[in-house]
Amino acid sequence: PTEPDVRRGLNGVVADTTAVSKVDPESNSLLYRGYPVQDLAATQPFEAVAHLLWHGELPTADELADLRAAEREHRALDDAVRSAMDLLPTDAHPMDDVRTALSVLGGRDAAGTELLDLADPTATLQHAVPLYAALPAVVTYAQRRRRGLDAVPPRDDLDHAANTLWMTFGEEPDATVVDAFNRSMILYAEHSFNASTFTARVVASTLSDVHSAVVAAVGALKGPLHGGANEAVMHAFAEIGSADRAAAWLDEALAAKRKVMGFGHRVYKRGDSRVPTMKGALDSLVAHYDRQDLADLYDALESAFVERKGIYPNLDYPAGPAYHLMGFDTETFTPLFVAARVTGWTAHVAEQQSSNALIRPLSAYVGHERREIPQP
Ligand code: CMC
Repeated sequence: PTEPDVRRGLNGVVADTTAVSKVDPESNSLLYRGYPVQDLAATQPFEAVAHLLWHGELPTADELADLRAAEREHRALDDAVRSAMDLLPTDAHPMDDVRTALSVLGGRDAAGTELLDLADPTATLQHAVPLYAALPAVVTYAQRRRRGLDAVPPRDDLDHAANTLWMTFGEEPDATVVDAFNRSMILYAEHSFNASTFTARVVASTLSDVHSAVVAAVGALKGPLHGGANEAVMHAFAEIGSADRAAAWLDEALAAKRKVMGFGHRVYKRGDSRVPTMKGALDSLVAHYDRQDLADLYDALESAFVERKGIYPNLDYPAGPAYHLMGFDTETFTPLFVAARVTGWTAHVAEQQSSNALIRPLSAYVGHERREIPQP
């Protein structure tokens, strides 16, 4: 018999079609519904990109106003969600807070846990709006309760990005910071069949429900090989301390066969298409906060890594220090990724639903051959 063609990690496997985004490693580009992500990041508010991912087109002025109004209705921290989060210890990882909160939100919104109806993907998009709208309150409270602080009520006069910063820090956010944060959210919103999105699609393919798909995706995103890398980058920076120590730290890490988080990518092998835009946002924050020391460390580690391994940074590399400069706790970085990627996840759930095939691959068995249970 011929050996089965096993692709570990589904490496190189084309599992389905998608019209949500196109990742092209050859041209180092990323398109959301046909638009280059760097152009969206430079010109659009995050809300408009959410609409684009869900509906395939940028919103008209009226559609954007409607989405903004709907989002404001669900911005406040839900009492039941807050109580559930408070059941967790204050030193719980904020990703665990977020996973718990999303589960409670699903339970609160009975329609949101109804089984997916193959004939009605638009119902998924209707549930996506309150989900995406509620996440900033969850993520910001996850950070604040760690610091022993109360939740900050949302502000209706602020857009999604500015309001998220407001609810985190309770201070009027600076325009440079809002712009950098908005860019990061757009860059994090979608990336084809990455591990968490694929997880959401696997769950959707069984015709489960939107909240279950999103909760499962949060679990996949938490890991350091995926979303957890932005947090891990900052832990590495803290270990290294300053630019002059970067090369020696890297040599030790590589000698110990450690993965250096924020570098490498399954699809991009010559650099991540999102990095230049996020690096631009990081540069503006470095200037704003006068933190050239951090930029020097960033450059030193990157050049040492590229020189030694020929492996380039991924989006998490500039995003980690950018969130750090904005004042977020390191453990809150991956929850911010959730607040953005929930738009992509839900767009993919609706797409899976509109042309569903149960995702159920095969495995090549390598265990015992058939044998008899020993007689007592
Ligand atoms: N540090 C050290 N070595 C690396 C790294 C890294 N960050 N990335 C790749 N390599 C090496 C790896 O050790 C292997 O070497 P060898 O062939 O000698 O064993 C080779 O490069 C191929 O790596 P791989 O892990 O087999 O390739 P993959 O396609 O499975 O890896 C990856 C993709 C993202 C899991 C990996 O690059 C990695 O672990 N990076 C660090 C985690 C990270 O930054 N993740 C974020 C990904 S992008 C944004 C997101 O999803 O959040």
